[in-house]
Amino acid sequence: MIQGKKILIAVTGGIAVYKAAALTSKLVQAGAEVKIILSESAAKFVTPLTFQALSRNEVYTDTFEEKNPKVIAHIDLADWADLAIVAPATANIIGKLANGLADDMITTTLLAVTAPVWIAPAMNVHMYEHPAVRNNIKKLAQFGYQFIEPSEGYLACGYVGKGRLEEPDKIIELIHTFFNEKTLELTGKTIVVTAGPTREKIDPVRFMTNHSTGKMGYAIAEEAAKAGAKVILISGPVQLTAPSGVEVIDVESAKEMYDAAMKHFDQADVIVKAAAVADYRPKIVYDQKMKKKQGDLSLQLERTNDILFELGQRKTTQLLVGFAAETEHVEENAQKKLKKKNADMIVANNITQSGAGFGSDTNIVTIYKRDGTKESLPTMSKQQVAQKLLSEISLLLKDERNERR
Ligand code: CTP
Repeated sequence: MIQGKKILIAVTGGIAVYKAAALTSKLVQAGAEVKIILSESAAKFVTPLTFQALSRNEVYTDTFEEKNPKVIAHIDLADWADLAIVAPATANIIGKLANGLADDMITTTLLAVTAPVWIAPAMNVHMYEHPAVRNNIKKLAQFGYQFIEPSEGYLACGYVGKGRLEEPDKIIELIHTFFNEKTLELTGKTIVVTAGPTREKIDPVRFMTNHSTGKMGYAIAEEAAKAGAKVILISGPVQLTAPSGVEVIDVESAKEMYDAAMKHFDQADVIVKAAAVADYRPKIVYDQKMKKKQGDLSLQLERTNDILFELGQRKTTQLLVGFAAETEHVEENAQKKLKKKNADMIVANNITQSGAGFGSDTNIVTIYKRDGTKESLPTMSKQQVAQKLLSEISLLLKDERNERR
């Protein structure tokens, strides 16, 4: 998938520069075209010559070193890239980019890049947690930059914690997924996505709900629409803006979500059930506000429909993808849900893990498929998880088409 792709790597100064050298080498071996910009401090760790030899291209270090009079180097480089990655990204470059500064080759180029820009931070754990750095990261995420979260482990400063540049192999996996998405077989397919929590009314003032924010489902809907699918997003109450090009059906209760899912099921090629649906609802919904009385109160609850289960019973050619948010025995529970609900894929996460819970911008998932295979993914932004899931869905759609031939 990355054969011939043009990847620009901006390397800034930290001990993890050696990993950027490994990343460059692996990308070139995989057939990508790689160009490197080194910051002044990065060049103190590894020389430009190393990157020149590995990338087989000249290395850029200085904005004013204009070797080709026919072009302006930083604009030419920015226009050239299909994807730009800052790896490792120091707190300094994150701060500069967040504030639109442009005082060297890396910052001038990145300001002019229109392709996606990914940032792979690497720094001391306390620096990474500093509110200034967190704010800058948040700001960049709002600008549309994607982050490759650092992993946890031994840091060169002697600390053990979050701050290690993600391993080159994992970064390459993300790059594969990214370019894969562009060749997805989703154009013209109808994908129904459910997202967010449900609300089960107790009385006109109160309801039962859960912590789901809808971010994962919305990311899937957005990426599916970008890949050319017709997307119907059945959404519980969330605080998110509808992705462009997506038809949104707002629902509140599990019953409303069930009705909407059933209504659109026949026209769907794929259903992704990312919603956190209530399993129980109050048996009696009071018309008037319940008044408090002496002593305890017991509410009697009754089961809601298991939407995924029922879709699994009813499915003909539809591809069914479910989620499993677990707090323990993740694999066992995911495998059980895969079979019981007759799903084609279950995306499981352990919501007690940091970086994987409700409301987080990242997720750590394992994909379990009907054919018995499983794949554990690193910490990724929910957008990247969505891209990966859609590329898996696309492969399953291709397999199905081939089987039918
Ligand atoms: N689901 C559903 N309808 C329900 C409950 C869950 O469609 N009433 C779907 C969810 O959207 C998700 C999958 O089933 O895709 C698994 O949901 P989860 O809450 O993890 O599991 P449950 O089926 O509720 O099972 P358990 O209570 O044993 O965890």
